[in-house]
Amino acid sequence: MSQLEKVLARVDDNLDASLNRLFDLIRIKSISTDPAYKDDCRSAAQWLADELTAIGIPSEVRDTTGHPMVVGHRVVEGKSGPHALFYGHYDVQPVDPIELWHADPFDPQIVTREDGSKMIVARGANDDKGQLMTFVEAARAWMEEAGELPISISILLEGEEESGSPSLQPFLDENKEELSKDLALVCDTSMWDKDTPAISVMLRGLVGEEITLKGPNKDLHSGMYGGAARNPLHVLCDMVAGLRDENGRITLPGFYDGVLELPEDVKKMWDGLGFTDEEFLGGIGLKNPGGEKNYSTLEQIWSRPTCEVNGLWGGYTGEGFKTVIPAEAHAKVSFRLVGDQDPELIRDAFRAYLKSKTPEDFELILHPHGGDKALRMDFDAPALAKGKEALSAEWNKEAVLVGCGGSIPIVGKFKNTLEMDSLLIGFGLDEDQIHSPNEKYELKSFHKGIRSWVRVLDELAKG
Ligand code: BES
Ligand code: ZN
Repeated sequence: MSQLEKVLARVDDNLDASLNRLFDLIRIKSISTDPAYKDDCRSAAQWLADELTAIGIPSEVRDTTGHPMVVGHRVVEGKSGPHALFYGHYDVQPVDPIELWHADPFDPQIVTREDGSKMIVARGANDDKGQLMTFVEAARAWMEEAGELPISISILLEGEEESGSPSLQPFLDENKEELSKDLALVCDTSMWDKDTPAISVMLRGLVGEEITLKGPNKDLHSGMYGGAARNPLHVLCDMVAGLRDENGRITLPGFYDGVLELPEDVKKMWDGLGFTDEEFLGGIGLKNPGGEKNYSTLEQIWSRPTCEVNGLWGGYTGEGFKTVIPAEAHAKVSFRLVGDQDPELIRDAFRAYLKSKTPEDFELILHPHGGDKALRMDFDAPALAKGKEALSAEWNKEAVLVGCGGSIPIVGKFKNTLEMDSLLIGFGLDEDQIHSPNEKYELKSFHKGIRSWVRVLDELAKG
């Protein structure tokens, strides 16, 4: 048996123990956006630092102005491969609506289907605890079996990814020298389908804005004032409605500046993936694509910019009925960006648009969220070829290069602040319901994910 085969066999033998460790991590309620779970976030960070240290990657919990980071290093002398920085996030999304979960979100369950396949159901089972543990367990297998890692590894685990990473930029600025390595490895993306591994080569950027619109100085009787007092909810709905035209294009001036047409070869590659609207939309109970006309659904998700209202509220929303003109209206709106679109120019254009629509006697209050450019990897990077090689060997199927509709703000910061490229490999599936009730991760994703990282590290070590 080659050393690689021995390490892979070690992964198989360790699987139950690996799973138990993942369950321990999942049980820690590290919801970053809710201050009530601040201590849990720290506990998750400490748990990870202790695990990594025990494996042989000395790690510590580092304070930030928000939730702490976990940072660790193991330098292997005399190896030719790159020094890689692994990134994952230990925070998770809130669990609401809790009533739709089939079990306690923080009490992980293994659910077996009729065909014998198994899935892990819990908040964070995929995003990102299950995913990041595939790497941690791969490192463990190398250390236990070979006594050493194939390449030098540093670790950076964040606890604010799901809440816009407010502490990340200052932390990277302050620790630039320590964290700038040859290559970042990121495990927070999806496979193409359950049998086909993928490397994400395009990530969308994100600009978010929270809007409060204040009108009358108190909630009003809608009979007594209706017609005389302008309703903040109506004004806000007009603002939102005006953002898209009848073809689904965003109307903000300059919005499409920097949007690049998809290269023909990439378009061809994506056309060959066998994607169908029926299957994709069918899976979420829909039939007809709702976005920009003249672009395929896959292009819309991976290579076109969008605008989405993530929340819209105000007035009386409780049981029964209350005839009121609310004093305030609220919305959370986000834009996904592609190509070279500039987040700050788009924020400026959006704000100017909102101001132009705000009545003179109203007050507009804006609160920014996120502001990250989209990212496109170098298709010819040697690490990409090595990643592809390793994944194709593990899954017995050629790995495909895909886009990712989601955003992982740190990847842009790695590039811009640390001058480091990233290799985005993940084992989630689109159907995993991340951010939703009954989030899951296939046991196969977890097991073969660990084995995949074992192979990626081995490939990278070949120099
Ligand atoms: N893991 C996701 C990114 C992702 C989404 C990968 C879909 C693959 C498919 C990540 O944790 C995430 O949700 N990111 C947020 C970032 C935002 C809060 C700044 C996103 O994309 O909304
Ligand atoms: Zn994530």
